[in-house]
Amino acid sequence: MKTTRGRFLTLEGVDGAGKSTHLEWAAEHLRQLGIPVLLTREPGGTPLGERLREILLSTPMALETEALLMFAARCEHLRTTIEPALAQGTWVVCDRFTDASFAYQGAGRELGTARIKALQQWVHPNLQPDRTWLFDLDLGTARQRMTGSRDLDRFEREDAAFFTRTRGAYHQLAQNEPSRFLVIDASQSIEAIRDELGVDLDRLARSSSIS
Ligand code: TYD
Repeated sequence: MKTTRGRFLTLEGVDGAGKSTHLEWAAEHLRQLGIPVLLTREPGGTPLGERLREILLSTPMALETEALLMFAARCEHLRTTIEPALAQGTWVVCDRFTDASFAYQGAGRELGTARIKALQQWVHPNLQPDRTWLFDLDLGTARQRMTGSRDLDRFEREDAAFFTRTRGAYHQLAQNEPSRFLVIDASQSIEAIRDELGVDLDRLARSSSIS
């Protein structure tokens, strides 16, 4: 019998939007539906990727280097973890993916869309998330949520203009692919967001059991 390919779900948003709060919950919701789930993150998700993450979040570097390292970590993650899991029928829930490179390196760092597209074409020309949840939040609220929580990393310490470019790029990505993206107003209560996510997950699970 042929195994049905797993679904690939990604969570995105500006720093402080609170997506991490919902990750474990989403994975658990799927498991309750009897779906095998791999919960992972970028940059990271593999031993090499986690080492690259440490460097990426702490070490100043040229913008091109940053984009290349993000995609190096991503390539390792795809080849050793994500692609085999999807092929086995496991659903992959990933905290950030290539949309973050468009938003942070392409727009935030102003590297431009074309170079990120070229890397995407090289590393994963045929794979896109089936669903992307974009946690959207204004600068003031995002900053409020971040302060005092822990030491801020290299991206979280960026200024308001960087934040605005990153958020704008996410809006544009969502506008370009409305059927892949679900934009979530992250200023809502955790319960209200979970209701929204639960409905979406149930729908995805139903549509995949039909296909
Ligand atoms: P994040 O999910 O925010 O981790 P945490 O919640 O533990 O802080 O991800 C770490 C940072 O990496 C985040 O600020 C965005 C950045 N990032 C990029 O700049 N480009 C990328 O391609 C990815 C995947 C992440």
